[in-house]
Amino acid sequence: MANSPTGDSVTGRLVRVLETFTPTRTVQSAAEIGRRAGLPRSTAHRIVGELVEVGLLERDDDHRVRIGMRLWELATRSSQALRLRQAAMPFMERVQARVREHTQLAILEQEEALFVERLSVPTAGANITRIAGRLPLHASSSGLVLLAFGERELQDRILAGPLRPLTRQTITDPAALRRKLAEIRTLGHAVAPGSIEEVSTGVAVPIRDETGAIIAALSVVLPRDAATDLALVELHRAARDIERALRAQH
Ligand code: PHB
Repeated sequence: MANSPTGDSVTGRLVRVLETFTPTRTVQSAAEIGRRAGLPRSTAHRIVGELVEVGLLERDDDHRVRIGMRLWELATRSSQALRLRQAAMPFMERVQARVREHTQLAILEQEEALFVERLSVPTAGANITRIAGRLPLHASSSGLVLLAFGERELQDRILAGPLRPLTRQTITDPAALRRKLAEIRTLGHAVAPGSIEEVSTGVAVPIRDETGAIIAALSVVLPRDAATDLALVELHRAARDIERALRAQH
């Protein structure tokens, strides 16, 4: 890829532009994008214009820019996440109908839990998870499951810290986290009371491929002091059914 005078590649600049969009910042002006991406104004305007031209970004009547549906379409249609989501959806709906709290599906992405689906009911309690949002591995039930059943090298990197506290219950001591991961492997699931927000308890189970390697975590977010038994039974049952559905896709 051709480089700019400052040495960063076309692709690098493109990614920086796209990364200025976040779950809470979905609409921006080209000037704001340029500032946030650290690009000269004229470069930002040119890149944004080109991306709008091909449909990866869209411009509204006020000339403000958002992520285009074309980008969503291209990213979604051939992704592994879509295949997983399709296999999981009927069983997530069953969990959600029976437990009547948030049910969510996460995969490991760049050392964080990335949420590819989330179902809720109006009566469900607090939940900070967003679809296409991320949570730290050491602080969420899904993350803990992805970590506990993940590769040794990943565990070593996360245990080396920093283990940032999100609440007073977040595990920030490497020895305590190592013990928690061993407990999760023994039990086959994670329960994380108050670890990412004080008012909730996350409960998560692994979803594995035919070799036994973990591919995702399925979780429920409950009010902090709610019983976890029903959620655990339903999550384990759903994980087995999702694994079977994934095998049948081959
Ligand atoms: C969790 O998975 O532990 C979790 C996720 C989102 C919340 C609370 C807990 O809002």
